[in-house]
Amino acid sequence: MGFSTSDDAAVLYVDPTRALVQTVDFFSPMVDDPFLFGQIAAANALSDVYAMGGEPFCAMNIGCFPSCVEQEVIRDILRGGYSKCQEAGALLVGGHSVVDEELKFGMSVSGWVHPKRYTPNSKAKPRDVLVLTKPVGTGLLINGIRGEVITEEAYLEVTSSMAKLNKDAARVMVAEGIKCATDITGFGLLGHSLEIARASRVDLILHASQVPLFTQALELAQMGFVPKGRYANHKHVAPYLKVEGVEEDILDVLLDPQTSGGLLLLCPEQKLETLLGQLKEKGEYPFVIGHTEEGSGGVLVRR
Ligand code: CO
Ligand code: CO
Repeated sequence: MGFSTSDDAAVLYVDPTRALVQTVDFFSPMVDDPFLFGQIAAANALSDVYAMGGEPFCAMNIGCFPSCVEQEVIRDILRGGYSKCQEAGALLVGGHSVVDEELKFGMSVSGWVHPKRYTPNSKAKPRDVLVLTKPVGTGLLINGIRGEVITEEAYLEVTSSMAKLNKDAARVMVAEGIKCATDITGFGLLGHSLEIARASRVDLILHASQVPLFTQALELAQMGFVPKGRYANHKHVAPYLKVEGVEEDILDVLLDPQTSGGLLLLCPEQKLETLLGQLKEKGEYPFVIGHTEEGSGGVLVRR
């Protein structure tokens, strides 16, 4: 077991029934509302425990706060983070902050997982179905928020998605015996797909037209609100990526770096119907976006 760089979190064997899942993540605000930012930062940090099939049990705050920021703003960020820990059932046991020029906030999270039931990137099998639990395009939408060009509806859709925990999706995943999963964050949908493809030595085939996109994501791509990370992500996946008949603006969204994205679940065909049913029953919106094939660790995107 131990530590592996391509997985969402470190998983450390403790005893036959428990392994410790350990992760940390923090970043700069993408929204003006401090409480909402705290919620998003916490949901994002907690997500890597869920992506490993674990349950968070405690968390610590990490903050970088400029000296000019009002105490009330800091308090609201911390309250936002605390509210998500409560929702996750994780104890917030402290933290540390430093004075810094750029405001940043996040958490270090510890969780438990059964040593035989965690979900690394390496357990995908040929003919697994790819199920995604949140739309993609948060990087584009965040740039759209900064540029003040997105509608109220699109703002609410993307911010509530980023603040939403992957808790229920992860619990269903574990209950249904799914063996392989990740969460979609900075490397974008294609970058995280590639991590699974390479770790499992299978090919991932994605159907671009079936991938759920946030309202206005395509429009923002066409308007040039593409984050720099999109190009870094493309460079990273390019040697293993094949694209067939997919427009550039769609590729922009598939490579878009995500904040607090959904889970990508690799589901054996015979479990698919039950998995989708259980996810919907919990109020999730799962999308079937592709499948795996025998291969050497590549990603193919089709229309
Ligand atoms: Co992750
Ligand atoms: Co992470």
